[in-house]
Amino acid sequence: MSSEVSIIGAGNLTVSLLNGIRKIKHTYKINVIDINKKKRSIAKKFNINFFSSYTNVLCKSDLIILMVKPNNYKDVIDSINPFISDRSIVLSFMAGISTEKIKNQIDVNVPVVRCMTNITISNDKSYIFYFVKSFNKHINIKINKFFNKFSKLKKCKSEEEIDKITALYGSGPAYYVYFNQIIRDSFTAMGYKEKEAIDYTNDLISGSANIIKDNKRSDDLIEKIASKGGTTQAALLELNNNKLNNIISKSIIKAYKKSKNILKK
Ligand SMILES: NC(=O)c1ccc[n+]([C@@H]2O[C@H](COP(=O)([O-])OP(=O)(O)OC[C@H]3O[C@@H](n4cnc5c(N)ncnc54)[C@H](OP(=O)(O)O)[C@@H]3O)[C@@H](O)[C@H]2O)c1
Repeated sequence: MSSEVSIIGAGNLTVSLLNGIRKIKHTYKINVIDINKKKRSIAKKFNINFFSSYTNVLCKSDLIILMVKPNNYKDVIDSINPFISDRSIVLSFMAGISTEKIKNQIDVNVPVVRCMTNITISNDKSYIFYFVKSFNKHINIKINKFFNKFSKLKKCKSEEEIDKITALYGSGPAYYVYFNQIIRDSFTAMGYKEKEAIDYTNDLISGSANIIKDNKRSDDLIEKIASKGGTTQAALLELNNNKLNNIISKSIIKAYKKSKNILKK
């Protein structure tokens, strides 16, 4: 009998996850529940079952994965409560909603696992970080069996670590995309057509990612690019004088603080 996994919410992160899953061979029956009927098109694309209302597929699910916005967490858990059985493990990818909050909302005493990843889970084996309060072998086996096939699993020692990872890794791709946008806009500001700007910028970012992988020390790498008194050094000096490093560090701290108290207005 194949195991069942149910995912609640058919948004951005779910689509990324399904893209990652479809690249591997597996025997799981995957259900996605989203109250937005328009999301049904993902069923055919990913060969999964789609439901626009909460159903008893949840009773048979080994893993129930919550991938809805944090402010929807109460409604969603109230909706799964009538169907949840004690065979399930609930995994939440929602930023900033603590295990305690989730556990308090669920009627049945099931293991709750806080997880974090990012949108790159669609490509290569990205990390999935997870934390569970009362860890046991049974939970570990079930989680590993499913996620290990298409991701790198990393167990966190504390729930606080998940909040840090949310700011660093969960939001992380947006920081790189933001920087990418600045470079692309600089190409167009200097007269390049938009198509060229996109092509050259994307080539820069993927090429740079590759050389970063091959060079452990970023100082050495920068030294290879920036010669004394040269163009790169002029730009880096300007970035340092304007304390860009401080701005970026402070921004990540803001994200971390938000992840600790996401529902606070
Ligand atoms: N996106 C990322 O890069 C990322 C990275 C790390 C963690 N996360 C976490 O992952 C979670 C999902 O993020 P996302 O970007 O995928 O969000 P999203 O694109 O907004 O997807 C959420 C989906 O859930 C649906 N939904 C709303 N209420 C529901 C309900 N009661 N029952 C079932 N489905 C419901 C939404 O429908 P409507 O569109 O009609 O509202 C939407 O399709 C968030 O908690 C976020 O913190 C996201």
